[in-house]
Amino acid sequence: NGRNGNGRMSPNSPLKLFGQAKKNINEIFKDVLAFISDADSFVEGIERSGFLDDVQCSEEVKEYREKVCGIMEVLARDHMKVVFFGRTSNGKSTTINAMLREKILPTGIGHTTHCFLQVEGSDSNDGYLLTEEEPDKPKSVQSIKQLASALSNVKLKENSLIRILWPKNKCRLLREDVVLVDSPGIDVTPDLDLWIDKFCLDADVFVLVSNAESTLMQTEKNFFHKVSSRLSKPNIFILQNRWDISAFEDDVEMVKQQHLDRTVQFLCDEVKVMDRKDGTDRVFFVSAREALASRLKEQGTPTPTGVLQEGFQERLFTFANFERVFEECISKSAVRTKFEQHTNRGKGLINDLKTLMEDILQKSQTQIQETTSSRREMADELDYLEKQLLLLTNEIKERIKSMVEDVERKVASTLND
Ligand code: GTP
Ligand code: MG
Repeated sequence: NGRNGNGRMSPNSPLKLFGQAKKNINEIFKDVLAFISDADSFVEGIERSGFLDDVQCSEEVKEYREKVCGIMEVLARDHMKVVFFGRTSNGKSTTINAMLREKILPTGIGHTTHCFLQVEGSDSNDGYLLTEEEPDKPKSVQSIKQLASALSNVKLKENSLIRILWPKNKCRLLREDVVLVDSPGIDVTPDLDLWIDKFCLDADVFVLVSNAESTLMQTEKNFFHKVSSRLSKPNIFILQNRWDISAFEDDVEMVKQQHLDRTVQFLCDEVKVMDRKDGTDRVFFVSAREALASRLKEQGTPTPTGVLQEGFQERLFTFANFERVFEECISKSAVRTKFEQHTNRGKGLINDLKTLMEDILQKSQTQIQETTSSRREMADELDYLEKQLLLLTNEIKERIKSMVEDVERKVASTLND
């Protein structure tokens, strides 16, 4: 699979699907833009030549061009977004760090993460922070603890967002356009509705970081009930974290089955986001702390004693397995949710433009007929005009046909892919 550490290429990562689709759609929009530019100069030429009466649509064509440019701008910013939720201290921030293979987010016992933290890729060589309050003032990543920790005195609002722009060349997920959002514990804030509206409506995947030492709690359940009432069938993964504790316990298999039963019951029967068959595939028994430590060790940071517990290999394997399923899910979901809209808008624009061009064609044909009937009076002069109009008509016909066909073929093949 594509999981091979930080800096190296990963040709088979499922995340590539998103990048490839983004590239394809971008190419199609470039074609559409070229088509519209052609149409633009064509229509302008007709208006200028005065061959056709009352053709006044170059403004309209220009508007189409603006719209396509707008779509292309949004497209360039499109990404895959995953939001992590769970109660305080369940290990949300640790999980994200493990996935990023670097200790970027502050973690700790007690209530640590105080506001929303969004980690996204940047092309610069050094990481920096941007706050909502001062979006034009990049801040040093060193100030993250001060800004984002509940223990600090300079508190931001709980529903405020700090963007962490982290160098893409340091992390594969960020390079592939994944954006990861960390949140404060859902048990410490009353403002869940606001959170959902502000941070969740464009999320492709939700990861509930649960605590395998206890069980799924009502606060966690309520949150996802709210989410699923706002979004139809959200993609939810559940990490039963802190499973390293199982190294010290009896009846581990029974506890595991209990967690699994309750979680699947929640996903499938309660919030009804998937059927039972798929439910079990969305639950993972992991230890984010072990995963982070072992990944840091691969990069030369020694693991403190006591972090890797007996049986850790299996939990590391499960963590990696979670990442694989997660990557498949998020890339598919993002392609669908982000690009389907663009594709439909693009198709709509092309169709509008087609109508507009056919209208011109219609006018030119009418005018040829009129010209023919009155030609006896104006013979020679009109001969020339007729030829021009015929040429024009054929040219419009040909162009509309080939351009529309070309664009539609590309859209269809990308959608099929
Ligand atoms: P808040 O930000 O307060 O909402 O918590 P959080 O969910 O982000 O938890 P965080 O990642 O800060 O982890 C809390 C504490 O639990 C830290 O001391 C972690 O090292 C520890 N921790 C996280 N994951 C695990 C795990 O899998 N096993 C064990 N034993 N400890 C863990
Ligand atoms: Mg945290």
